[in-house]
Amino acid sequence: MINMSFPKRVKIVEVGPRDGLQNEKQKVPTDVKVELIARLGRAGLKVIEATSFVSPKWVPQMGDNTEVMAHIERLSGVAYPVLTPNLKGFESALVAGATEVAVFAAASESFSQRNINCSIVESLERFLPLMNAARDAGVKVRGYVSCVLGCPYEGEIAPESVASVAARLFQMGCYEVSLGDTIGTGTPVSTQRMLAAVANKVPISSLAGHFHDTYGMAIANIYASLEMGVSVFDASVSGLGGCPYASGASGNVATEDVVHLMNGLGINTDINLVDLVACSRWISGVLGRNPGSKSAVAMSAQCQ
Ligand code: HMG
Ligand code: MG
Repeated sequence: MINMSFPKRVKIVEVGPRDGLQNEKQKVPTDVKVELIARLGRAGLKVIEATSFVSPKWVPQMGDNTEVMAHIERLSGVAYPVLTPNLKGFESALVAGATEVAVFAAASESFSQRNINCSIVESLERFLPLMNAARDAGVKVRGYVSCVLGCPYEGEIAPESVASVAARLFQMGCYEVSLGDTIGTGTPVSTQRMLAAVANKVPISSLAGHFHDTYGMAIANIYASLEMGVSVFDASVSGLGGCPYASGASGNVATEDVVHLMNGLGINTDINLVDLVACSRWISGVLGRNPGSKSAVAMSAQCQ
């Protein structure tokens, strides 16, 4: 029987052009990124994370951030947020025309050091001037917490550590906090335990699930999150991606598999699955690999 407390509508935040491509070994041309974002918009995605304004020495794949922002076709009703780790990144993003940004912290000290070269406390302090500048500019800020269900360097992470970082991000003005299972080690039980701790400090309606699918648990973890009342999920078309600072981490859960799940549960996403699968097959072809989702393989005949 369908759980009647499931939300009627779920927001999917497409992170393929950023999380998906940031770790790609081959250089992905800017016009491919722009085309990918356009196809995702046409498939009905309403939030498409377009790029990140991080150091090009740290993440060379995102070095064309300004060009991407200059060339994307901005559909009405669609948001194109970008990652910004500090004020410098925020200022560049603003000049490039970003109207929504995301800051990213971690629940693990070691991951914070490897990913953004500072402690958790330092990262939160670094976000404060960014938050003030964003408020002045009328720019919405989302927050991320990485390693919420495990860290590649420290192993298990206490749910209370996740809750305290998520609460700080929410208190400083992030309208939504995305909880990242960076290395995909979470299970439905650990997901619900972590969410219960975070929901004590941040309203569940302001939380998002960001599941990497390293162990094939992402869809199960999304279902477990729905049971807890979460109604926002990050996903990456074709399951693209990984994390440059989490070796072995595979991509995010594939957007098309999430849409298939939501369709089956009668939950509205406004996304056209056939168009999305066609997009998944197109980007996989451009990158020279098979589609990374079950749906794209299963629906191949409908989406040539
Ligand atoms: P740093 O080296 O400590 O920074 O890096 P710094 O302030 O000492 O500056 C060093 C140099 O970087 C200077 O340039 C700065 O101007 C420059 P130089 O004088 O040497 O020529 N710099 C910048 N350049 C461009 N944009 C900027 C910027 N800031 C400084 N914003 C920094 C600190 C945060 C910049 C660096 O560690 C970095 O860029 N890290 C990014 C890491 C990253 O992008 N990781 C992947 C995204 S997070 C993720 O994938 C997880 C997520 O998906 C959720 C999940 O799955 O868990 C969100
Ligand atoms: Mg991620």
